[in-house]
Amino acid sequence: MLEVLVLVSGGGTNLQAIIDAVETGMVTNTRITGVISNNKNAYALERAEKHGIAHRCISPKEFASREEFNEKFLEAVDVWKPDLIVLAGFLVVIPPAMIEKYRNRIINIHPSLIPSFCGTGFYGLKVHEAALSRGVKVVGATVHFVDEGTDTGPIILQKAVDVEPQDTPEVLQKRVMEQAEWKILPKAIDLIANGKVSVQDGKTVIHL
Ligand code: GRF
Repeated sequence: MLEVLVLVSGGGTNLQAIIDAVETGMVTNTRITGVISNNKNAYALERAEKHGIAHRCISPKEFASREEFNEKFLEAVDVWKPDLIVLAGFLVVIPPAMIEKYRNRIINIHPSLIPSFCGTGFYGLKVHEAALSRGVKVVGATVHFVDEGTDTGPIILQKAVDVEPQDTPEVLQKRVMEQAEWKILPKAIDLIANGKVSVQDGKTVIHL
């Protein structure tokens, strides 16, 4: 049974997609054991509460330095002894010590087809604003392992989504979430839970 800890900062629609996929059996061999947010007002915490999932909040704002937060944050994560950590819209930089300790056991959902529109400063609506500004005709989402870079780890799954005429950033964001993010994040967890993902030479190999 894969024990999954989900890290969130906002509305939690990706968390909800994972919860629903586990509850319906689309994702197998998996248990969401906890949710951690840096934002005490994150609606994602209410979603966890409704589904009886243990949750807590810990924020850099509570600590005198980032170094102190990083240490306490990693301790808080370790309490759950997770097999997999899922960043579902988590907006805090993951401490390097945590990336080392959980090498290829932390995954992130990014709302673009990496390597497009990713890296520092590309998050939330900014990703979709940049895509529309560039005039691309296809966007999408990516699930990848987290390494020391920003959106640079081995790619696990991607899914493309068409840009429609007159799209606004908000409309495009919603389509990418509905048609891509909410599908490939649970799917990636199911693949990992069933031992179907490995990393070789910095790239993933999916054993279907
Ligand atoms: C999603 O768009 C995700 O791609 C990005 O942050 C957003 C989180 O949304 N990483 P939610 O909190 O899952 O609704």
